[in-house]
Amino acid sequence: MKKIEIKISGKPITARAGETIVQALWSAEMAESVQTGCAGGVCGACTVTVRYADGKPGGTELACMKPVEEGMEVFPCPVESDKAVEPVANADALTLQSVFPTVNRCTKCGSCTTACPMSIPVMDSVMRMQQGNFNEVAEDFTTCIHCGLCRFVCEDKVKPHNMGLWIRRSLGKNQDELKITIEDSNQVEKEWQYLLIDEKQERFQRAKKFRESGSL
Ligand code: SF4
Ligand code: SF4
Ligand code: FES
Repeated sequence: MKKIEIKISGKPITARAGETIVQALWSAEMAESVQTGCAGGVCGACTVTVRYADGKPGGTELACMKPVEEGMEVFPCPVESDKAVEPVANADALTLQSVFPTVNRCTKCGSCTTACPMSIPVMDSVMRMQQGNFNEVAEDFTTCIHCGLCRFVCEDKVKPHNMGLWIRRSLGKNQDELKITIEDSNQVEKEWQYLLIDEKQERFQRAKKFRESGSL
């Protein structure tokens, strides 16, 4: 398979044409230079920004989905985790403002919309949040993978996706029929314990085996 060179935070590595950035990192034994969760474009853990050698416009990408390209430069986006905020039943625009005062800081720069790898109209949705149009906001954020990039790029620290998630959960609190019961919570806990073992090599092996078989 054709070999190409890419750079991760300035460090050159050799990758195989056709593989994703995450696969290239795994092969180069640099798996931990980009966070990885689902490895399937769902969880948003692996967000990176990308620059191309041929001058075409770069931008934000999911490293587990983005195929490598000759001369590509990759920069991890370390989005810090943020404390979850409890949802509130029957919330309105005033409730949102009291829980997230950041909602009024938006300067309509549009950076969040540009950064979103899921093409969510984030800035427009922040406007809808300010107006209390929560059903529309919930629709906007249906495909949000909570990669946090909209928060990462926001100079005004508005936290759009945290608010989007809070609104969806608050709407859910109004509807008892939407409550989900996990049938076997012991099994979920068992899987986490199995996958989060401290020893690094063993952790990689278990994650690989779990991805392939879907079971412990
Ligand atoms: S990046 Fe922040 S300030 Fe800019 S439009 Fe989005 S939420 Fe508003
Ligand atoms: S809305 Fe924000 S957190 Fe959600 S996918 Fe887009 S950039 Fe990521
Ligand atoms: S690892 Fe989950 S989206 Fe890439």
